[in-house]
Amino acid sequence: MTNNVTKIVNQVSHIYRLLQAKEFSFKCQSFEETITSGNPGDIIYCDPPYIDRHVDYYNGWDSEHEKTLYRVLSNSPSKFILSTWHHNDYRKNEYIDSLWEEFDILTREHFYHVGGSEKNRNPMVEAIITNYDIPIDEYKQPKKPEQLMLLEAQTTYA
Ligand SMILES: C[S@@+](CC[C@H](N)C(=O)[O-])C[C@H]1O[C@@H](n2cnc3c(N)ncnc32)[C@H](O)[C@@H]1O
Repeated sequence: MTNNVTKIVNQVSHIYRLLQAKEFSFKCQSFEETITSGNPGDIIYCDPPYIDRHVDYYNGWDSEHEKTLYRVLSNSPSKFILSTWHHNDYRKNEYIDSLWEEFDILTREHFYHVGGSEKNRNPMVEAIITNYDIPIDEYKQPKKPEQLMLLEAQTTYA
């Protein structure tokens, strides 16, 4: 518990410093609108609900949303990073083959320690999908979360 609290507090202070370093603008609008407003040189990070998986906070992400996300990201002139799931011991994310396969896909095993019952605490292979080449070797022994490394590689903070 102490570890989790420390981790969250560290994240708050990290975000606080980031917000002071640059000008940010927060918008409440559809993801389509946000993504289609991207320009060359922008980096778009998407962390949508995992398609075909039950998540308590939001279960309305369906096939149409995933296809729309694919359409807008495929047509975007910006770089993008998308987090999703790849497979677990029981099934795979069908959309990896049907939609996302044309892009670069980095996979990493992640163990879910949180689950109402022990049988729900299983390893899962997560995917980070990008529309640009990433130096895979640098990410083999990551010292930080991959999403953060990818974003930092694209961004400089004052
Ligand atoms: C995996 S969570 C993202 C968590 C976030 N990256 C964070 O660290 O707090 C997925 C988010 O997608 C949002 N979401 C679900 N459907 C959406 C939609 N149609 N348009 C925009 N956001 C949506 C949910 O509200 C949820 O906050």
